[in-house]
Amino acid sequence: MSSKTHYYVEAEVVSNIIETSRVNTLVLKLGQHMEVKPGQFLMVWRPGDGEIPITPSLTNGETICLTIERVGLTSSRLASLKAGERVFLRGPYGNGFNLEYPGKYLLVGGGTGAASLTPAYLKLVEKGVQTLFLVGGRNRDNLVYVNKLRELNANIRIATDDGSVGFHGTLPEFFKKIIAESFFENVLTIGPEKMMVKIAEECHRNGIRCQVSLVRIVKCGIGFCGSCVLDPVGLRVCVDGPVFNAEEILGTDFGAYMRDEAGRRVEVTL
Ligand SMILES: Cc1cc2nc3c(=O)[nH]c(=O)nc-3n(C[C@H](O)[C@H](O)[C@H](O)COP(=O)(O)OP(=O)(O)OC[C@H]3O[C@@H](n4cnc5c(N)ncnc54)[C@H](O)[C@@H]3O)c2cc1C
Ligand code: FES
Repeated sequence: MSSKTHYYVEAEVVSNIIETSRVNTLVLKLGQHMEVKPGQFLMVWRPGDGEIPITPSLTNGETICLTIERVGLTSSRLASLKAGERVFLRGPYGNGFNLEYPGKYLLVGGGTGAASLTPAYLKLVEKGVQTLFLVGGRNRDNLVYVNKLRELNANIRIATDDGSVGFHGTLPEFFKKIIAESFFENVLTIGPEKMMVKIAEECHRNGIRCQVSLVRIVKCGIGFCGSCVLDPVGLRVCVDGPVFNAEEILGTDFGAYMRDEAGRRVEVTL
């Protein structure tokens, strides 16, 4: 299957890897081939538990990994699944990253963003593009997907807020230091929105092309319900994104406001 589907594909959990106390990675075996571009997302459904959007952390035809943080009911139930249990996937949805721009790439992943950026990293390396991956978390126990990235021999640098591993400081602080040492033409980032807006603004000041992957409340995933809209420009994260050129959305509600589950405009807190 190479294009998106609005029907569900059944998948079986092969294993459940503990990343941190709040984050698990499900390794799923699908009954058929599913092609997902780096940065595209899937709607993941388990009857009775709800359906949520997740960006795969690895895709390999019939095997897909999903790295899930427990923030509420559906994510907690999915993250707790055991080998042999089943989920249903529809998609892939959204645009994914544009990896055709020339030049070096700097990837910036906060929290589960490090996992979601991994397919883009692997694709860039496969294309022979010079790429550095910055991964951040509050402390050593909150770093997500670092073991997998090390297993993949990825070119990673780590920042922790408390200095327990790597650079002592936030990812935006580390990012500033890195781009002062070496110029990158391209930045890809996924993580907390307050972090991404700082990265995007820094790129804007330094003439760096920046692509950000936005998280909003996604219900339908196909551009129908409007719950994921970015005000005031009316871009829908599920079909116009989730990846946007930062220049396109700086000055909008990016980093400031989002819609809650009832459609109300609320402040972005993370
Ligand atoms: C395109 C896309 C890709 C994503 N990829 C991943 C991924 O790879 N891994 C991962 O762990 N998560 C990912 N998410 C986020 C994930 O979908 C949400 O955490 C999940 O929908 C929460 O559902 P829940 O039922 O567990 O929590 P809920 O009960 O729905 O929510 C719990 C709390 O989190 C808040 N919340 C829920 N969804 C969002 C949101 N989208 N933005 C801000 N706050 C929210 C709610 O307001 C509430 O306070 C992605 C989201 C999008 C839009
Ligand atoms: S989630 Fe329904 S329009 Fe985007």
